[in-house]
Amino acid sequence: MVETNYLVIGSGVAGLTFAVKMAEKHAARKVVIVTKADADESNTKYAQGGIAVVMDMKGDSFQKHIQDTLIAGDGICDREVVEMVVKEGPQRLKELIAWEANFDLTADGGFDLGKEGGHSEYRVVHHKDVTGYEVERALLERVHQLPNIELLAHHFAIDLITDHHLGPKKGDLLSCYGAYVLNQRNGEIRTIKAINTVLASGGIGRVYGHTTNPIIATGDGIAMAYRAKAMVRDMEFVQFHPTALYNPEGGSYFLISEAVRGFGAYLRNKAGYRFMPDYDARAELASRDIVSQSIDNELKKTGDSHVFLDCTHLDMAAFKKHFPNIYDKCLEYHIDVEKDWIPVVPASHYLCGGIVVDKQGKTSIRNLYACGECSGTGLHGANRLASNSLLEALVYAHNIFEDLSNDTGDSIPLDIPDWNDEGTRIPKEHILIQHNLKELQALMRDYVGIVRSDKRLQKAVARLDVIYNDIEELYRESKVTTSLCELRNMINVAHLIISQSLEQKENRGGYFNLDRLDQVENQLS
Ligand code: FAD
Ligand code: SIN
Repeated sequence: MVETNYLVIGSGVAGLTFAVKMAEKHAARKVVIVTKADADESNTKYAQGGIAVVMDMKGDSFQKHIQDTLIAGDGICDREVVEMVVKEGPQRLKELIAWEANFDLTADGGFDLGKEGGHSEYRVVHHKDVTGYEVERALLERVHQLPNIELLAHHFAIDLITDHHLGPKKGDLLSCYGAYVLNQRNGEIRTIKAINTVLASGGIGRVYGHTTNPIIATGDGIAMAYRAKAMVRDMEFVQFHPTALYNPEGGSYFLISEAVRGFGAYLRNKAGYRFMPDYDARAELASRDIVSQSIDNELKKTGDSHVFLDCTHLDMAAFKKHFPNIYDKCLEYHIDVEKDWIPVVPASHYLCGGIVVDKQGKTSIRNLYACGECSGTGLHGANRLASNSLLEALVYAHNIFEDLSNDTGDSIPLDIPDWNDEGTRIPKEHILIQHNLKELQALMRDYVGIVRSDKRLQKAVARLDVIYNDIEELYRESKVTTSLCELRNMINVAHLIISQSLEQKENRGGYFNLDRLDQVENQLS
């Protein structure tokens, strides 16, 4: 059993930023971070393009960044949230720099700003094409310098502890008191009691078989919050990144940053035709939803498995300087970017929705906060503007810190029970977990992908029911393991994506349903 002021679930940019801020300002308060893999494993670590922040007011302005975000979000962003996040950006970036994160500079000492889809100006601050790696490195180094942070790697949060665990609930608002956490090294389940809990558990990419996300992105925080009866929003808006390196085997797809298109690369079909100008006046720099839907349409028209990104006309010396990681990775696959076109396909990348939070990061459960990709703030609307995610995580981690700074919170009830696994046994059916995971990923790809229809979604519901029943039965009789819990969480997340897709009555941003076609006829001929 552990007791702490703050339990943070996740060690990406969101969780670490909150922990560092709180521990720096309040030396007497204890922060425990649990994270289910190595400390640095996270979506954050793989972020390439950078952080969208208005740092150069000469050509750019807050107003332009706000407008670009609203346009990308296709009319359903929360304008107040957009304004707040954009305007707080520069201050949050300065803090990151004070923690010794390095960003590329030009010869005259200004930021070397990149451009990505949907941005009307160059405003993406980056560290070559490995921005996330640099941010994660800097934050973890700061964490290790702070004695009041305890970081527990290979600790998997299974479920939040709420009033449900204390017997019949009095009053209306549920409270959270920490989480049950599996020590993945010795199988022990610890009760971590916390006055406040911050979910920073990241995204859901792995629910789809083809994704840019690493294996940790299984939507655990969203599933835990949903099971605890927190509100969850906008789950139908799964963002597919247009240019993942084509991988005929499926699984993880290496990302070819949108900044490469910002640098001037063209999308071509197999016949060599540059098709994006047919779909949008912004061509390759249209927002991500439009580029992905256009590629999907192009693939359906031609029957091809992928399209190509052509960089052969670009200044290669400058390319290698900005994108050394992408250049090297392509070479590993025998693609010489200087001469060869890069084969690319859209892949699941980001969840625009998540656990409902207000501007202070508060969920609908007392003493439970959420920030980063697991949260649904209203910033992204129906489609996130490129490089707004790291920014959102920094801003909300700060807002939660501010909200909690003047509040030491409630006391923790004494009667929290320990995890009870009486009557369960070590699961022997690993094959069942693997098989159901593959089934789940295939059904999400085939029926809940870039283009949906009510019929496909209904089919997905029926298939998901079978998987759900299989896994719930296994869960009830088993001692918990990481793979079983992750699959259970992904099933919950898939259910939310499908059910909220069926409820969505308009085609907006990343949500495209053939049964709502009338509004997008102009987009896809
Ligand atoms: P993460 O960084 O994913 O961290 C989540 C943490 O929670 C991890 O440590 C994980 O292990 C832990 N965790 C999860 N479940 C549990 C559990 N049950 N118990 C314990 N720990 C748990 N965004 C941009 O703004 N700019 C970019 O250039 C950019 N490039 C990207 C490139 C790639 C390839 C990818 C995949 C994403 C990119 N994004 C980018 C999106 C952005 O990286 C993420 O949205 C952001 O980093 C999410 O941060 P986070 O802290 O919310 O979650
Ligand atoms: C990329 O570099 O293309 C990813 C940027 C993002 O997801 O915001």
